[in-house]
Amino acid sequence: MMKITKAKKLTGELTVPGDKSISHRSVMLGALSEGITEAEGFLAGADCLSTISCFRQMGIDILQEGSRVVIHGAGLHGLKAPSKILDAGNSGTTVRLMSGILAGQPFSSEITGDASIQKRPMGRIIDPLTKMNASIASAKGNGCAPLKIQGQKLQGIHFLSPVASAQVKSCVLLAGLYAEGNTSVTEPALSRDHTERMLRYLGASVSSSGLTASIEPGSRLIGQKIRIPGDISSAAYFIAAALLVPGSEILLKNVGINPTRSGMLEVCRAMGGNITLLNEDCSGPEPMADLLVKSSSLHGTVIEGSLIPTLIDELPMLAVLGAYAQGTTVIRDAAELKVKESDRIASVSENLKRMGADVIRTEDGMIIHGGKPLHGATIETGLDHRIAMSFSIAALAAEGETEIPEADCVTISYPEFFEDLKSLQA
Ligand code: S3P
Repeated sequence: MMKITKAKKLTGELTVPGDKSISHRSVMLGALSEGITEAEGFLAGADCLSTISCFRQMGIDILQEGSRVVIHGAGLHGLKAPSKILDAGNSGTTVRLMSGILAGQPFSSEITGDASIQKRPMGRIIDPLTKMNASIASAKGNGCAPLKIQGQKLQGIHFLSPVASAQVKSCVLLAGLYAEGNTSVTEPALSRDHTERMLRYLGASVSSSGLTASIEPGSRLIGQKIRIPGDISSAAYFIAAALLVPGSEILLKNVGINPTRSGMLEVCRAMGGNITLLNEDCSGPEPMADLLVKSSSLHGTVIEGSLIPTLIDELPMLAVLGAYAQGTTVIRDAAELKVKESDRIASVSENLKRMGADVIRTEDGMIIHGGKPLHGATIETGLDHRIAMSFSIAALAAEGETEIPEADCVTISYPEFFEDLKSLQA
């Protein structure tokens, strides 16, 4: 149980933990590379540790000491058959990306995860993988994990994805490493491109043009040093906190600013947020910068269309900002929120209402009439890490005390979240 009351101001510097999406990919692609991959800035959160444990089960030697990970890659064809069911825990990225890899192996496997994972839609990867000649099925026939995969020879396809999802795109591209002929994916809007960037960095033949990413099979991946930037999805909580709490000024160091991930910065600025990028570093495959954030008076905005995939995980936090901003904030085209770690349209609007906000739930988002003072409440996280963190920040600007009973779920993506938040309030 975490109890949070109104904050005075946030000041100081912070380095947020490494990017979750890039941390997963460093382990997966490091395992498929020849030689050693050394990742610095690895996120030692529960989700990424699930990925490490799955690859260890397939014979990969991985040393993890805090944020440093050394992966002894076995090459594209060096994975061993796992002796038991692979457990992805709470991690959708682990299930969906690994399924693409498993589909092309010369062995059979089964992958599953916790109660939340077993409710999330896997038809979106079963469909394209089946078109590639993979043998993959939902064990319970409900389109969800557990997934049973019989590895076999795959065929390249051109896949027109119905959703802008990096997990779907990455799954298909990773299967494409093992396919005969080229594989490409066209999405309705551009999702995060970390897989394409890292594959290219490790030597695969990957090209991107507009909304289409393509991979040629047969490339060899060669292990490299990987510097993982701070996770902008984790930085988002402190950006929001500093914007909301009067008198705040904070510096967030080395945050990833990949344009397919940084939509939140654009939206915060459109709401009147004072955010400055310093020390931009574009020398590696993933751009990063320091973010200077000062408290600001915010007004409502519209968040929609192709912006949505670039800030999908930040929408709970942005909805909270909308509730504190003057005027109306509209979030639309975001039906994907319903199939995240929880139904985030339901959980965000319910918890905002508990705090006294004026929110209308819609099929693909929310309409928030902001500017009403919020008060403390008991938050129902549904064990969703992003709900727990977003409402911890909401509590900093509310009257009275907010209680978050299952606050421990922040360990999924940010084990030191509450310590880091405290350090900025010192
Ligand atoms: C992720 C992609 C996104 C995101 C998730 C991580 C990734 O999911 O919400 O937290 O690492 O590829 P979708 O691809 O399902 O949109």
